[in-house]
Amino acid sequence: MERSLLMIKPDAVSKGAVGRIISMLEENGFRILAIKSKRFSTEEAERFYEMHRGKPFFRSLVDYITGGMVVGIMVGRDDAIRLLRDLVGATDPKEARPGTIRAVFGESIERNAVHASDSPENAERELSFFFR
Ligand code: CMP
Repeated sequence: MERSLLMIKPDAVSKGAVGRIISMLEENGFRILAIKSKRFSTEEAERFYEMHRGKPFFRSLVDYITGGMVVGIMVGRDDAIRLLRDLVGATDPKEARPGTIRAVFGESIERNAVHASDSPENAERELSFFFR
């Protein structure tokens, strides 16, 4: 079994989409292994997204992520990382396949409802922001 992190971002938390997103995970065959809500400090958000440091959207991204509560969900299944990214959809909700989480709940390329880990190394790194 492989593990991944789905992070529900402040736009989706504040619109009350947490339960529906968890339902989509369960309906699509993911095991929920742990859930935690928290609020990122600026320093944590900068470390979480350190691969994007220096990009034009970095400061706005950090402001958005620190602007409200986020929910970290540890999911598990075979091939979890690839299958979770399929369920999440394209970064830009306008380009996301219908029925994906971002197509349903995303508002813009920045306020795109959720983040999913893109590699085993990043999954473990990102899970450590929520779970010890
Ligand atoms: P995420 O998958 O969490 O990874 C980086 C985040 O930066 C992305 O989702 C968006 O929330 C945000 N972002 C804002 N603008 C862009 C952009 N032009 N390209 C990619 N990501 C962006």
